[in-house]
Amino acid sequence: MSTFLKRIMRSNLDESEVSKLTSSFDTIGGIVILRIPEALADKRHMIGSTILDNIKSARSVYMQTSPIAGDHRTRKLELIAGDDNPVTLYKEFGCRFKVDVEQTYFSPRLSTERFRIANLTSENEVVTNMFAGVGTFSIIICKFRNVRKVYNLDINRTAHELSVFNSSLNRMEEKIECLCGDAKELVNSHTCGKSDRVLMPLPEKARYFVKDAVNSLKDRHGIIHYFLHVRADSKKSALEIGRFETEDSFG
Ligand SMILES: C[S@@+](CC[C@H](N)C(=O)[O-])C[C@H]1O[C@@H](n2cnc3c(N)ncnc32)[C@H](O)[C@@H]1O
Repeated sequence: MSTFLKRIMRSNLDESEVSKLTSSFDTIGGIVILRIPEALADKRHMIGSTILDNIKSARSVYMQTSPIAGDHRTRKLELIAGDDNPVTLYKEFGCRFKVDVEQTYFSPRLSTERFRIANLTSENEVVTNMFAGVGTFSIIICKFRNVRKVYNLDINRTAHELSVFNSSLNRMEEKIECLCGDAKELVNSHTCGKSDRVLMPLPEKARYFVKDAVNSLKDRHGIIHYFLHVRADSKKSALEIGRFETEDSFG
């Protein structure tokens, strides 16, 4: 992927411009999302059209104009080529997901992590996904493991509605219960003492929900997948910092 973007742009940009291009971009169903540096902003429509011409499955190209931010973890997008429709169908490990790349958080880059967690899950478990988004982790878990039940919690109404839709789309509506609201409140009202496993895929804020995650577990025992961002020079020191910060959050 990294050289692909630069290669296709060589017919329209000179070498110094090509060197300024970011090397990565995301393809989500029919949508391509990329960042374009300020120095190439006036060429964004040409860059978008070139991508459309070279990626058969693409029908819309969006430029990301803000970082992922806010409670809903969304980003601002500007259409630079194709149809202005941020809703698409994305496929992963044989599952299908309706995704709105503007109104909800979604990243195809987490697919390996979703598969890893699904493989760690055992038959018959009750899983609470505290920050479920459009339901990706939960659906991948149900695809690979015969779990008893999954609770999908999310505060973003659009993400919640898509997670309801995606559960039915993948015929998992009997196993997955989707609840819209703040995870703190929903754990107390619906999942307290019920879960064998809790997922906390909100690295920016997971530390504020540790007590709730523990309360969600059966007899306060079970497995919590705690996500956090760490800055480190190497994988080894990332693991050390991560362990230290996790111990600090769990007290
Ligand atoms: C990084 S996204 C994770 C999405 C999903 N797990 C995935 O991988 O596609 C974090 C999600 O947490 C939700 N969220 C943020 N604060 C929340 C809260 N207090 N209670 C419930 N959900 C929350 C956001 O709406 C967002 O969908």
